[in-house]
Amino acid sequence: MEQAYSRIEHQGLKDRVVSAEVAASWIQDGMTLGLSGFTRAGDVKALPHALVERAKNEVTFKVDVFTGASLGSDIDKIFAEAGILRKRLPFQADPTMRKKMNEGEFHFVDQHLSHTSEMLRANTIEQIDVAVIEAVGITEDGMIIPTTSVGNSLIFAENAKEIIVEINQAQTESLKGVHDLYSPGKQGERQPIPLTKPEDSIGTKGIPVNPDKIKGIIFTNQPDSPSNIVPPDAETKMMANHLIDFLKNEVKKGRLSKSLAPLQSGIGSVANAVFHGLLESDFEDLKVYSEVLQDAVFDLIDAGKVSFASGCSITLSEDKMNEVFGHFDRYKDQLVLRPQEISNHPEIIRRLGLISINTALEMDIYGNVNSTHVRGTNMMNGIGGSGDFARNARLAIFVTKSIAKDGKISSIVPFVSHVDHTEHDVDILVTEQGYADLRGLAPRQRVELIIKHCAHPMYREALMDYYQSALEKGGHTPHDLEKAFSWHSQYEKEGTMQPLVTV
Ligand code: COA
Repeated sequence: MEQAYSRIEHQGLKDRVVSAEVAASWIQDGMTLGLSGFTRAGDVKALPHALVERAKNEVTFKVDVFTGASLGSDIDKIFAEAGILRKRLPFQADPTMRKKMNEGEFHFVDQHLSHTSEMLRANTIEQIDVAVIEAVGITEDGMIIPTTSVGNSLIFAENAKEIIVEINQAQTESLKGVHDLYSPGKQGERQPIPLTKPEDSIGTKGIPVNPDKIKGIIFTNQPDSPSNIVPPDAETKMMANHLIDFLKNEVKKGRLSKSLAPLQSGIGSVANAVFHGLLESDFEDLKVYSEVLQDAVFDLIDAGKVSFASGCSITLSEDKMNEVFGHFDRYKDQLVLRPQEISNHPEIIRRLGLISINTALEMDIYGNVNSTHVRGTNMMNGIGGSGDFARNARLAIFVTKSIAKDGKISSIVPFVSHVDHTEHDVDILVTEQGYADLRGLAPRQRVELIIKHCAHPMYREALMDYYQSALEKGGHTPHDLEKAFSWHSQYEKEGTMQPLVTV
């Protein structure tokens, strides 16, 4: 216990330590909570569980839960099961939560991850009643030092009426110094964000708060939930190779140097595999300016390929977590964690000229991308930061396997069933079949390229047939809407997009 108290350096705050149960009793029906946590990293672990326990014994209460992104420790799952949510934003990735929100049990606002802070600052969404933030410790002058993610914690602390801090002893104190907290201030009053290189340090090492706002401090001792990415497989390796071929060609054409440009990669196994592919490439002195730093980033640092990585969270598999946090000092000089509005800020993404690699569920023959909605209806996870990056990157690359569900679904369709990234924001499409470079191409110039290089052979003919029939109708972007959407309605009725054999 003494050890835990030593993490509170501010003398006046040592007497604010309470149990999670007591802190949970402060939460009232209808409140908006801002919880730390970004893609399973740095989430608060005790208060959410205590809140759910409270819900078991008490008349129903409902709260809005705002976070950085998805949470670990099964928090999104138990929140959804307990039925205590009124609204959740801006991102989630839990199967139980997904099911319940698709059944309409609570509202989910799928938001660009850089937007939440602007909306809170501008008072255009619910203001935060209580911010609950996981910390490594609190400094003498009352600064909260976040753990493995920064996410939206800075704006939550700024915006909240009250703050509860969870000091997690399982998080290494070596994390101190890795954070860079910068708030751009109000729109219309702010200066340019003074960040011109991924390694620039522009803010404070912790979240500066008025200590009077800290209502309670809870001690916890629980590591982050490990990521659930699976190692690269044959298909994801093929995608990585195509992407690397594309990048090599850009170097050959003199558009990029061997150190490319700062790289951003999305979440998940595909994105991780693509980054992994860079290990065997001859690119060097790479820099990462991304959101989530996954396993592959640390492999690239270990291999001397990446010299610096900026993110807003560190999300690792179990083995990698032990390895990285067991020797965190080894990486500290090459890492920084920033608020998600800075990691995802359009001004910086455009200034640095990022190469941005995100994942799609489906893409269409003109280059529109759906990253969120299965059959245009059911939410998968959310748009996350993919829109922040795609719109503003030097190169907006989208990757996906060309088929899903054993080939019953073609990921290349005539018209996507939901649009997250319009054709205007998409430069390169990559599947295990190859890549299509759409830059500077008009809609009719894109179709054959996408079908030939990205669609699975089992769907190429049907896609070309569709295009030929759409051409008969004419138009700048030829479509036969009834036929286009029949791909989705046929899947719904027959369980496959493959052309039906009529006898
Ligand atoms: N229609 C229906 N289901 C599809 C599909 C399609 N066109 N394409 C893929 N799927 C299914 C897969 O079968 C798989 O299902 P399962 O979980 O039942 O096995 C699931 O979607 C995930 O697909 P997978 O190929 O394993 O990809 P992934 O784990 O890399 O996830 C996204 C892909 C798009 C869901 C994920 O990357 C995402 O949520 N992206 C949006 C947010 C984002 O980009 N954030 C990062 C910004 S920094």
